[in-house]
Amino acid sequence: MKIVGLCGSLRAASFNRALLRAAAARLPAGVTLDVVEIGALPLINQDLEKPEWPASVQAFRRALWPAQAMLIATPEYNAGMPAPLKNAIDWASRAEGIGGRTAPEGEARKTPLEDLPVAIMGATPGSLGTARSQQQLRTVLLNTGMRVLPLPEVYVGSAGTRFTDGELTDERSLAAVAKLVAALADWARLVGTPGAKAP
Ligand SMILES: Cc1cc2nc3c(=O)[nH]c(=O)nc-3n(C[C@H](O)[C@H](O)[C@H](O)COP(=O)(O)O)c2cc1C
Repeated sequence: MKIVGLCGSLRAASFNRALLRAAAARLPAGVTLDVVEIGALPLINQDLEKPEWPASVQAFRRALWPAQAMLIATPEYNAGMPAPLKNAIDWASRAEGIGGRTAPEGEARKTPLEDLPVAIMGATPGSLGTARSQQQLRTVLLNTGMRVLPLPEVYVGSAGTRFTDGELTDERSLAAVAKLVAALADWARLVGTPGAKAP
């Protein structure tokens, strides 16, 4: 099973990027996790869709299509989801054909997000553990037709005490991340291959 990771932070020493590294080190057997970068995407602008999507947008969408699931690690900015992450989701949510063709041959879905199982986690030095950001993100993802994992929720608050030399070292948080990726893999098997109808 191929999982794509998105990091809502562009910061080099991002706690959320470290969460994704922790997840990548705790994958169930037969599962891979590769982070797809979102920092080079232009700000969403429908004028950029003609004559075709910018090369960075096309490359981003092409990297998403083969995934069987997505794992997002997001910070919280002003009680909401970060702009780079929303921007990336907006570009991925546009229907094929609007700015060109990025889907592989035979793909029936209109966007690389449609029907794709997804799980959310987040880290912040704040005490609320990105709860408000994740709540907003969940609503946005549901609107794209993604199959959002209901539970468990992973909120890593007080990040300054849970990371050492840039890596997640808090045992409870590590266990929560491992549980989340296992639940995502189970969820993806349960709801099925993207493009197929849910049972
Ligand atoms: C514009 C901005 C707004 C922020 N607002 C919040 C917030 O509402 N809640 C919170 O917990 N942290 C907030 N923070 C702090 C970030 O959560 C913190 O910098 C975190 O480490 C960012 O994630 P990263 O380590 O993955 O880059 C904000 C940071 C920025 C830059």
